[in-house]
Amino acid sequence: MEVIKVKNYDAMSEKACSIIMNRVINLDNPVLGLATGSTPEGLYEYLINTYKEGEISFKDTATFNLDEYVGLAPSNPNSYHYYMNEKLFKHIDIPDKLAHVPNGSAQDLDSECRHYEQLMRDRKQIDVQILGLGLNGHIGFNEPGTSFESRTHVIDLDETTRKANARFFDAPEDVPNKAITMGLETIMDSKEIILLVSGARKAEPLARLLHGEVSEEFPASILQNHKDVVIIADEASLSELE
Ligand code: F6R
Repeated sequence: MEVIKVKNYDAMSEKACSIIMNRVINLDNPVLGLATGSTPEGLYEYLINTYKEGEISFKDTATFNLDEYVGLAPSNPNSYHYYMNEKLFKHIDIPDKLAHVPNGSAQDLDSECRHYEQLMRDRKQIDVQILGLGLNGHIGFNEPGTSFESRTHVIDLDETTRKANARFFDAPEDVPNKAITMGLETIMDSKEIILLVSGARKAEPLARLLHGEVSEEFPASILQNHKDVVIIADEASLSELE
């Protein structure tokens, strides 16, 4: 794993944007794996600006989001569909049919998971997967204890995750109990992974990811086994290591 240390959140976002731009420009039909949450918001702003300045087009790019809450329709402002539309998709020229987010309001969730896997297989491989880091070591919504061999599946969200994400909802009890998430094996199939980490509250999980044992109890530790992981981390998030 390569660690790129940057000054702050803005520098992390700018660096991630420059790597993604490079891949989108140089690959035929690039496939990006995308995350939600607070961490990639700055990256998406940079990508939108780059697009508006005419430096990049996403018309041949396909995207696959990591996860979606179960029970939230795309029109729900707390859904990840809504987040992606607002924070990226509606501002760029990606064709709707190439921008994929799991359908958390599907009647048959298991079949939705299989369908999502098939859509990714149809594209062969994710070229670059963007990840954020959960405080409990989750990536996607793969909570501690998730099998390293997991594919896209439905997961019960940890109470710690529901608490951490309550800031986006009107009331803490509104945070769904379940989500659909790409599995850990699905994530590991990506050609290249970029993990974004910012802020002092991520310092402890980042230290554990870098130096702890590889264990299903700390899902992000699986990244130690991937041959092309770049971690873009700001100074605050690396503070436990100095
Ligand atoms: C979001 C996701 C999660 C977040 C993680 C960190 O799609 O998959 O793993 O990346 O919970 O969230 P933030 O960035 O809000 O700290």
